[in-house]
Amino acid sequence: MSSPAIFPFKSNIDLDRNSNRHLYLQLCDQMIGFIKSGKLAPSSKLPGSRKLSEDLSIHRKTVIAAYDELMSQGWIESIPARGTFVSQDLPIVNPKKLKDFSTIIDTKNTAGFNFKKRKHLIRKGIKTLLIALKIDDGVPDHRLAPIEDIAKIYRNITKKAHHKELLMYGDIYGNINLRKALVIYLNQTRGLKITVDNILITRGSQMGIYLASQLLLNDKKTIITGNTNYMTADNTFTEAGGIIKRVSVDAQGINTNEIETICKEESISTIYVTSHHHHPTTVTLSAERRMHLLALAQQYKFAIIEDDYDYDFHYSNAPILPLASNDTDGNVIYIGGFTKIIAPALRIGYFIAPKEVVDEAARLRRILDRQGDTLLEQTLARMISNGDVQRHSNKVRRIYKARRDLFCKLLQNKLGDFFDFEIPKGGMAVWLQLKKPYHWDLIISAAQKQNLVFINDWKRYDNNNSGHNGFRIGFAALNEEEIIEVIEKLAEIIPNTIEK
Ligand SMILES: Cc1ncc(COP(=O)(O)O)c(C=O)c1O
Repeated sequence: MSSPAIFPFKSNIDLDRNSNRHLYLQLCDQMIGFIKSGKLAPSSKLPGSRKLSEDLSIHRKTVIAAYDELMSQGWIESIPARGTFVSQDLPIVNPKKLKDFSTIIDTKNTAGFNFKKRKHLIRKGIKTLLIALKIDDGVPDHRLAPIEDIAKIYRNITKKAHHKELLMYGDIYGNINLRKALVIYLNQTRGLKITVDNILITRGSQMGIYLASQLLLNDKKTIITGNTNYMTADNTFTEAGGIIKRVSVDAQGINTNEIETICKEESISTIYVTSHHHHPTTVTLSAERRMHLLALAQQYKFAIIEDDYDYDFHYSNAPILPLASNDTDGNVIYIGGFTKIIAPALRIGYFIAPKEVVDEAARLRRILDRQGDTLLEQTLARMISNGDVQRHSNKVRRIYKARRDLFCKLLQNKLGDFFDFEIPKGGMAVWLQLKKPYHWDLIISAAQKQNLVFINDWKRYDNNNSGHNGFRIGFAALNEEEIIEVIEKLAEIIPNTIEK
């Protein structure tokens, strides 16, 4: 075995005594780095443990522990009566210049291979200070989530021996008890007429939108959405290979006459609707247009993806039953979930469709995410069956209604000169159109300086560059004091910014 010149460990090893990582492991990491980079070639002789411990001013036992670890990983070998060497069987690497060494053990940013980069999925990150007051576009108040109840039931289920099979690979359609509970819950609350065969449990509504898009939109199939529309859904359709056509949205919701005109001219695969509260403008699809849309779906044989993301939040009257409740010919894929009722981190949603569609979606889901959190699904099944979910949903609906009322009243009183808006009948956000010729950019940057952070970019609502000047602002996640503070700050900022 040849012995190239001893590598200058003393000047190249840099151990951090304040780090949480053991010194011997730091030494290992760095020696592996030298070997991988070629600075320590196969068969190089390593200094004895006494010498190295003196050079590095560390305990000899630390060096011995590092050498033992490197030996067990196969990086080095000990030859009786000769010493310790870098393993001779390792491949030879062309050494890099010493100054490049530090980059080898740093986390790398750049891949050494080609892969598809999706520019359309990049979102402008907005930095928010922890103390900043945030303006979102309609999310639930996670502080209201019944976390104690969830934790208690989850723990109870986890502990019980007869529930241990929930820790195994399970049904690709999702927890059977949750599907059974959902049959009753959805048939009662939404007028659906489904059985367990029509339900696939997903991780939130977004997974449902993704699966439906993958089933429906390959090979440049056309999907019609509203102008303007929920941006993430648009991205999902484009990603699946679909071509988006847009029709207008007015006070009655998505314009079904325009849909009919397009259907007469070309083949349409899918229509995406947020029928209960259109995203972002919050309007409800009128009864007449609902009937029209279903009739068109039957005539032209397209699918309707009905994204009922905030069904539970309707304040002025009883919620309007979804299109899915009148779907006699199997045209609707109905998507919903519990992320808005309980909390966004509770990733449980459902995908409701004719059995053959559910079967296909379940097979597709399996290759993306084998199954969801079965314990959490079982927890939710119990919370639906014992009425916890309905009680919580009633409670937050009352709270959000009061927040909507306060938010809209203050908005009208203090900022009515600058905005056009309708009081939303439901949901968690208001659609605010800034009167021309004012501009959101000015307001957003002035607000940022006052610690009032808009976490979304207004351009996401203008996906067709129509210049509608609209912004969706959430009220549900702000308590009374926060609402007052937001409006007061805006009332200070906006006139000053605009009149400058
Ligand atoms: C219109 C719409 N659909 C779907 C989703 C996705 O919801 P989930 O968190 O259940 O995936 C959202 C989330 O904000 C939404 O606004």
